[in-house]
Amino acid sequence: MRIDILTVVPDLLVSPFSHSILKRAKEKGVAEIHVHNIRDFATNKYKSVDDYAFGGGAGMVMMMEPIVLCIEKLQSERTYDEIIYMSPDGVLLDQKMANSLSMLKNVIVLCGHYKGIDERLRTHFITKEVSIGNYVLSGGELAAAVLVDAVVRLLPGVLNDETSALFDSFQDNLIAPPVYTRPADFRGLKVPEILMSGNTPEIDKWRHEQSVERTRIRRPDLLKE
Ligand code: 6GU
Repeated sequence: MRIDILTVVPDLLVSPFSHSILKRAKEKGVAEIHVHNIRDFATNKYKSVDDYAFGGGAGMVMMMEPIVLCIEKLQSERTYDEIIYMSPDGVLLDQKMANSLSMLKNVIVLCGHYKGIDERLRTHFITKEVSIGNYVLSGGELAAAVLVDAVVRLLPGVLNDETSALFDSFQDNLIAPPVYTRPADFRGLKVPEILMSGNTPEIDKWRHEQSVERTRIRRPDLLKE
């Protein structure tokens, strides 16, 4: 999978993809993540990427031309399955959306800033708008990092058996059971006996019950879905 991220703050997107699982995905060639600075496509001598809103009001609007030039350059090189705009107005990201995005080959992710992007970009170029939650971030970059992480870790070959996404919270609409590691007794705080029994079928049963019970208490909304 190839993901091209368009931003005016490329620095914000270096570190998230330079560690652990996402780093491994890049090294293995399973995911290619390219970050593009929209300012490189600015056409006036000031390298402007934003301008005043028609009609007045506070806040700048991201201009069409630099973004369209960047998109068109990428589209001249390959065909994109989706052009996603990260926006608090978008469809809420969930595991199901991450699963389906992970099946795509080429995706552009546009990060908004200021008061957002010119509406004509949204109607004529963007194919999907995605939000990561009901709160406002100062830009789409951190949201894009969340989206890319959720998607890339699902690509075949990124996770191993131990970290398999099949057992993630949410893949089955259940949250994960509690986990423990050594020592078995930390200052009198003990690990549940069952986990030390070696009885794998009983342990699996216990974990499933814990998942269901936790979901019922913490996220009853998931059980309804
Ligand atoms: Cl995708 N962008 C911004 N700026 N804020 C958000 C968001 C995205 N998702 C939730 N809040």
